[in-house]
Amino acid sequence: MAFNVAIDGPAGAGKSTIAKRAAKELSYIYVDTGAMYRAMALYFLRKGISPKDEEAVSAACDEITVTLSTENGDQQVFLNGENVNAFIRTEEVGKATSIVSAYAKVRQKLTQLQRELAASADLIMDGRDIGTCVLPEAQVKIYLTASVETRGKRRFLELQEKGEICELEQICEDIRKRDEQDMNREISPLKQAKDAVLVDSSNMTIEEVVNRILELVEQKRS
Ligand code: DC
Repeated sequence: MAFNVAIDGPAGAGKSTIAKRAAKELSYIYVDTGAMYRAMALYFLRKGISPKDEEAVSAACDEITVTLSTENGDQQVFLNGENVNAFIRTEEVGKATSIVSAYAKVRQKLTQLQRELAASADLIMDGRDIGTCVLPEAQVKIYLTASVETRGKRRFLELQEKGEICELEQICEDIRKRDEQDMNREISPLKQAKDAVLVDSSNMTIEEVVNRILELVEQKRS
């Protein structure tokens, strides 16, 4: 049976950085489910479908095929055969994703695909509902969080490094709004699974968090 590690938590908690490193250490596949939702949102935006129009979004879901591959340890996401990694990290796509990921049709499609992947290989999957809904039987579940201020500062530094003009207060506000949307939607809201281990990364280094995850996997495997 495949060994599955589920990592959930709010935006900016460091899930992808941590999950990617831990997967490398363990030689597991890393699956970033946020990227899959982002690819779908990109499709709707490109087609001129308003993310707020649930009926139109749901109807268009059958036109979409999302696939993944790994290149040099990095996940590549394909939208109907096109590698869209370069287009899914914009603010516009992020906002649209937060809206469309609340719809049943969108979630059903990706949940099914995620379960198929998890059944076929040892992997670390990160997202919002992996431990609660997608992989309730995952052998290790982690809920990774950090304070809004910490997450805001991390994002602020990332944007500054890219030379983008931004305001810390605005970034924190956007994070609060995103949390609110992700935690309060009707279907698969972001929440800690009962059997998940809570890790607050506010005062931890990346290495400390990765080591904590490796420890938890080791405990379960032995
Ligand atoms: O982790 P991220 O920022 O790439 O996620 C983008 C959006 O997708 C975020 O608003 C929450 C949503 N998402 C989700 O609803 N379920 C998942 N398993 C992963 C992401």
